[in-house]
This record gives sequence, C-alpha cells and structure tokens, in this order.
Amino acid sequence: MEKNTGNDYFEKLQAEIIENARKLYSEKVVDRWLHPRNLGAIENPQGFGKITGPCGDTMEISLRIMNDKIIEAKFLTDGCATSLAAGSMATELASGNNIQEGFKISQELILDKLDGLPEESEHCALLASNALKSALRDHFASKREPWKKAYKNTE
Ligand code: FES
Repeated sequence: MEKNTGNDYFEKLQAEIIENARKLYSEKVVDRWLHPRNLGAIENPQGFGKITGPCGDTMEISLRIMNDKIIEAKFLTDGCATSLAAGSMATELASGNNIQEGFKISQELILDKLDGLPEESEHCALLASNALKSALRDHFASKREPWKKAYKNTE
C-alpha cells in the first residue's frame, strides 16, 4: 500500500486551490499570482508610493527613474492573490516607459491587460494604479524639494 505523506496532502491541496483559481481568474492572473513579476523594493528609490485601499490592504511601489524614464518598478503588498497579479501587471507596464506613460496606467488598463478580474476584485487593480501614481508624484515632489527626501529616509 502506498504511504500517504504530508507532502502528498499539501501538493494535492495546492493543486486543488490552483484548479479552483483557474475557474475564477484568467491564466494571466493565475500566472502572476503564482509567479509575481517585480516583487520587492528598490533601495533608495527615485519615487515611492504606499497606498491602503478600502479593503484595508496595502501596496507600495518603488521606482528607479533616469532621464524621465522608469528604468525599474517593484511592488510589495500584503493583499490578496489578485493584488499580487495587479501589482505585477502595473510594474510590468511601467518598467521601460516614460513617466507620462506611467501616469496613464489606470485601473482599466491593468484590468484589460490581465484579461479582467471578477467584479469584487476590480478594486485591487485600482490599488495598484494608485500606488504607482503616488510613486510617480513622489518622484516629482522629491525633484522639486530634494531636501524632503532626506527626512523621509529617516522615518
Ligand atoms: Fe484588498 Fe485585493 S487588495 S482584496
């Protein structure tokens, strides 16, 4: 008789969870939930935004910017699976683009590029878009008043 180990149980459970997620979410969402792109934080970023959504979850986005071009974008979130997918997509869309294009990365665009989210999860894409815009605004504020950045780093 085959021995049923704890590992087997968790592998089966995980497979079941992923299978159920595929019924609810697009392949792009499931892929980014399981393998989020750009997860992490940039040290000494040239733009940083942190937003808490109405659901109570938070997302932060940090940017490396050179000559008005977003060279790198990273995100962290304590939110749900779809916030991982939305943060991933927002930072993928931002990376390599110029700042003006970054401001155009809206909730609608993120939803469109993810092939949609269930209505009750659409606000997760808004959280990602708002965190990105907040990081871009922070970039401009730091450029205007660079001394404020020094204070922020000690917070
Ligand atoms: Fe809060 Fe998705 S970010 S439910």
